[in-house]
Amino acid sequence: MSAGSAPWRIRRAERRDVGELVTIENQQFPEPWSRAMLLDEVTNVENRRYSVAEEAGVIIGYLGVMFVLKDELHVNTIGTRPGHEGRGVASSLLDEAWADATARGIARATLEVAVSNSRALALYFRYGFAPVGVRKNYYEKTHEDALILWADIVTARDGASPDATA
Ligand SMILES: CC(C)(COP(=O)(O)OP(=O)(O)OC[C@H]1O[C@@H](n2cnc3c(N)ncnc32)[C@H](O)[C@@H]1OP(=O)(O)O)[C@@H](O)C(=O)NCCC(=O)NCCS
Repeated sequence: MSAGSAPWRIRRAERRDVGELVTIENQQFPEPWSRAMLLDEVTNVENRRYSVAEEAGVIIGYLGVMFVLKDELHVNTIGTRPGHEGRGVASSLLDEAWADATARGIARATLEVAVSNSRALALYFRYGFAPVGVRKNYYEKTHEDALILWADIVTARDGASPDATA
């Protein structure tokens, strides 16, 4: 679902959103980031870009990317509020971030994802991400390995053009 026709809107995250991000983070991640970390991330305008999906005044998803070098980005975090998964929230956040990245001349994206996170992997594969390596024992609590994924942003989701909203 494109953000244009969705009942939510995508906007840049602000300091006032951090409380809701912490709530979702705690519900969705075995090793959630702290309030201080998320505040640092959201307020770092130099090389971070955090966006949120907001529906009826409630944050239902967020995405944070970090700009690396001139033409790469790293997906730092993405989460959808429980109860809102499977509606296209994460996809619309990625669509919006990919359009912004394309405008900035960013060609490639990378991220780490737990090997068992099949839901996130299915999402990333739709965006052209492919595994290039493994970081052993990446997660401190679960001791799980992470897959390192890379994608060409220009090829975008399902091979669509980067500005496609379908
Ligand atoms: C992974 C995660 C971000 C996906 O978020 P999401 O908002 O559910 O993702 P989307 O809805 O965009 O896409 C997921 C599914 O919904 C489907 N979908 C998309 N739009 C839809 C719509 N309008 N109606 C119904 N389903 C839809 C997609 O086809 C996709 O299907 P599948 O993955 O089951 O094959 C979410 O599950 C999450 O927060 N997980 C915990 C945190 C996490 O693991 N983050 C990643 C760390 S690397």
